[in-house]
Amino acid sequence: MTVHSDRAAWLQGGNAQCNIPAPCVAHPHRLVLLGPPGVGKGTQADMLCAELRTCHLSTGDVFRAADTCQTPSPALEAALHSMKRGDLIDDEMVIQLIRERGHCLCCRGGFLLDGFPRTVHQAQELDKLLTDLNLALDAVLCLDLDLDEITARLGGRRTCADCKAVYHLQSRPPQSDGLCDECSGTLIQREDDRPEAIRVRMQTYLSETSPLIEYYTQAGLLRSIDASGTPEEVFARSLKAASEPAAR
Ligand code: AP5
Repeated sequence: MTVHSDRAAWLQGGNAQCNIPAPCVAHPHRLVLLGPPGVGKGTQADMLCAELRTCHLSTGDVFRAADTCQTPSPALEAALHSMKRGDLIDDEMVIQLIRERGHCLCCRGGFLLDGFPRTVHQAQELDKLLTDLNLALDAVLCLDLDLDEITARLGGRRTCADCKAVYHLQSRPPQSDGLCDECSGTLIQREDDRPEAIRVRMQTYLSETSPLIEYYTQAGLLRSIDASGTPEEVFARSLKAASEPAAR
């Protein structure tokens, strides 16, 4: 799959610049991807960003990248501990992380936020930040799937320890057992994909994140997408939903 930006500015924060900057796009898309853990947000984000040439801004990826830090601050250590348990990271830490990366929201290629916002408070802060930057969301794509199918997707997920490419033991197996097709890195199971952590993540989604469905319905931005079927079938639905005009 073609890489349109290396996301260095997003993943590293601070003064980091992307080594492969996003291409100039005439009408950049500004999207949020919403849905329960394991529904396929990361898979769809990769496909949508390759097609729309937007930048994939995943908060989960930022925290997982920070997990390799040799000397984490106590606050970061506590946050990573919450993540491994399946709990959400504290709102204020997440909002600060987004504010520090406000320039990524102004990216000339547009953006697709994956995993943010995850609470109503985060959504309100995103609205304020976008207003300050004179930007607006085009749509919120909400992937929907029943719980059994989600649990099967999470249980079979394997991720490359090096390049973070995502596989599934049944639906998207690697060519060689345990090895990444892209970079030959070792495929691992995420710590928060253990059954106990999956249960916590699902409960947290229902109590903290699902109220965003109503929040973005009220804003006229929500597009519900049936996430059953192959990644390609879900992609076709997602792309159509991303291209529909806003109902505001
Ligand atoms: P995050 O990384 O955002 O994880 P998540 O939302 O739990 O979502 P996942 O990455 O688990 O799944 P996905 O929906 O992307 O599915 P995928 O495409 O991989 O967040 C992780 C943690 O970080 C949170 O729990 C929290 O602690 C913290 N965090 C992050 N943001 C935060 C925030 N804003 N506030 C507070 N805390 C925050 O697909 C899953 C599997 O299914 C894969 O194996 C894939 O190959 C397979 N698959 C995908 N599509 C299909 C298909 N159509 N058919 C069959 N298999 C499929």
